[in-house]
Amino acid sequence: MNFENITYEHDSGITTITIDRPKKLNALNQDTIQELHQAFKTAEDDVDTKVIFITGSGEKAFVAGADISEFADYSVAQGQQLAAKGQAKLFDFVAHLSTPVIAVINGFALGGGLELAMAAHFRIASDNAKMGLPEVSLGVIPGYGGTQRLPQLVGKGRAMELIMTAGMIDAAQALEYGLVNHVTSQEELMELAEKIAGKIMKNSSVAIASAIASINAGFEEGENGFETEITEFGKCFGTADFKEGTSAFLEKRKPNFPGQ
Ligand code: COA
Repeated sequence: MNFENITYEHDSGITTITIDRPKKLNALNQDTIQELHQAFKTAEDDVDTKVIFITGSGEKAFVAGADISEFADYSVAQGQQLAAKGQAKLFDFVAHLSTPVIAVINGFALGGGLELAMAAHFRIASDNAKMGLPEVSLGVIPGYGGTQRLPQLVGKGRAMELIMTAGMIDAAQALEYGLVNHVTSQEELMELAEKIAGKIMKNSSVAIASAIASINAGFEEGENGFETEITEFGKCFGTADFKEGTSAFLEKRKPNFPGQ
């Protein structure tokens, strides 16, 4: 696949999408958002992809935010369109993928960078990572879902403070807040991501897709997560994975899920 701003690699069930604009600290311009949409869609459609990693190139940044140079002279209408398009193409799109997405945060995750990490299904970070939503220091607010996802993950009061102060928290504090699930050294970050992915890949991908849909439903306006859970639970009974999982348990062997 030919991308200018990202790289796309697949190995042993894992697709790694790396934002590759290190000179701009991997800032998200419109072309990068479009490429990321295409890459995530390709990975989601690929039956061999069981887990997706999203990370940044270089040792300094995951993503230092939306590309400020691109929107500095936007009008009110253009600003709204920027947020709407970005949410639809990338942030909501990622959150609703049925393939697990892990944000592998290898440095600064600021503004749109943290919003992208929060759109992923969960996050791990290296100990040099710094996270924040500094938009109000630029006279704007987070527009890629940050005002919604940050309080969901860390609680309303912490999100209010972090957004109002435009502050940055380090990896240890992000861990304490529950914003990231694990912290390790930069050298060991990919290894940790692969270890977690290995555990995920042992399980039924169709059941995992149902779990993601059910968990997400609890956070959607107008949806009843408990009802979604009942529907998705029932759907599992019609899958080949369920037959394999239950048979393997009863036959005292390891399951070999067909992923259907
Ligand atoms: N948009 C566009 N360019 C960005 C960027 C962004 N969000 N973040 C960093 N860059 C660019 C810088 O302009 C600089 O480019 P240049 O070398 O052509 O001047 C390059 O990336 C390196 O950044 P620099 O600021 O020199 O690195 P630093 O180590 O001194 O500081 C940060 C790192 C992350 C603290 C600083 O870059 C920063 O505050 N970035 C903006 C963060 C932000 O407000 N994000 C929210 C956007 S809505």
